Amino acid sequence: MSEAKNNNNSFTLIDNRTNEKIELPVFEASVGPDVIDIRKLYAETDCFTYDPGFTSTGSCESKITFIDGDKGVLLYRGYHIGELADNSDFMETCYLLLYGELPSPEQKRKFETGITYHTMVNEQMSTFFRGFRRDAHPMAIMCGVVGALSAFYHDSLDINDPHHRLVASYRLIAKMPTLAAMAYKYSIGQPFMYPRNDLRYAENFLYMMFGTPCEPYKVDPIIARAMDRILILHADHEQNASTSTVRLAGSSGANPFACISAGIASLWGPAHGGANEAVLNMLEEIGTKDRIPEFIKRAKDKSDPFRLMGFGHRVYKNFDPRAKVMQQSCHEVLDALGVHDEPLLEIAMELERIALEDEYFIEKKLYPNVDFYSGIIFRAIGIPTSMFTVLFAVARTVGWVAQWNEMIEDKSQKIGRPRQLYIGKTQRDFVPLHMRT
Ligand code: ACO
Repeated sequence: MSEAKNNNNSFTLIDNRTNEKIELPVFEASVGPDVIDIRKLYAETDCFTYDPGFTSTGSCESKITFIDGDKGVLLYRGYHIGELADNSDFMETCYLLLYGELPSPEQKRKFETGITYHTMVNEQMSTFFRGFRRDAHPMAIMCGVVGALSAFYHDSLDINDPHHRLVASYRLIAKMPTLAAMAYKYSIGQPFMYPRNDLRYAENFLYMMFGTPCEPYKVDPIIARAMDRILILHADHEQNASTSTVRLAGSSGANPFACISAGIASLWGPAHGGANEAVLNMLEEIGTKDRIPEFIKRAKDKSDPFRLMGFGHRVYKNFDPRAKVMQQSCHEVLDALGVHDEPLLEIAMELERIALEDEYFIEKKLYPNVDFYSGIIFRAIGIPTSMFTVLFAVARTVGWVAQWNEMIEDKSQKIGRPRQLYIGKTQRDFVPLHMRT
């Protein structure tokens, strides 16, 4: 049963073809826009709704993440993203997203231990990597190996068993950094590093990325903290393309590893998670501040497919609150590393300044999004550009599994099956080949 309240609110539609009135219930949001329940619309009017890109369509009810795009607010389970980034850590944020509340110290300890003891992957998976070309994009590898987890962990595939779902969720959160680091190590021809359970989540990930078996590797605590913050900022974001993909794949009853692999594929695109990689490529292409106006001009030119990467968002029509934290983190990391004149940061800040004063960007409410500054931090830490979106996938896994679990537990959910406005040929007779001209 849906938990949504309708408080007897309704929306009346008048069908001008028949002059009939149709009453549609309105469900109340705890904050943000209410929704009109159109489930009986087709039965009563013989019409579907039409909303390409789902700009006005709510696909589910959810208690996990709230975004106010006009005010630039992002809440995880009611907590402001800025407060979490400043005061929490990624493991605590994972617990919050999965269970709905911040953990007690004991709950947190148990949760971290639970995640930590799932960080290793089946040893056979390492041979799996050898099937990929060394120059494969790590996101291509991630799509394959995360989906392949379902071939290894048969004891957590029953989606109707809450314990199986929990174990699969822990496994996914725990193993993503291990697989991501393996994808990186494979691409540079270095041996895989086993996870270290004495390290915290972000620290362990950096260790597996940059450590080698030849010598001890100590992760810089400032870098580990910056990485942890980046993970918090990317952990969930309501019903975006990749999360909706995970939900849609999961709605058919597909196993969680397959669903997350589908989410990774969706995240890869440059209009979504692939933008962080695209931003850095763009900043490098711009090269010097004096070339910024040329790129702004191209972004505004409708006949040029170029867009300012890291700018604009479907939901935010104000500053993306994550971009603000990211900009601050960017300065902190560069300061900590003693980088005081990073040319890409200077280009990015100047680009932001010029775009925010430009009529085109003001009118269309295009502001920097989370990806605008993240690439500069990643680069400063030493993460190669091709790994940027992989990091996003590592962070977003908890959001995906939280949303997937919520969907499975929601009895009002059905298999996702959109309809269409058919504009093709009507039925016609088959013409045998010899009679066709
Ligand atoms: N540069 C130039 N113009 C832009 C940009 C941009 N970055 N973003 C949007 N516009 C323009 C569009 O051309 C369009 O103009 P029009 O109304 O004259 O046709 C208008 O702004 C609205 O754009 P839409 O594409 O309709 O907006 P939508 O909500 O569908 O797209 C998106 C949002 C995909 C994020 C878009 O802003 C974009 O492509 N940005 C660049 C890629 C990017 O940074 N993606 C990361 C998003 S955040 C994330 O996934 C983590």
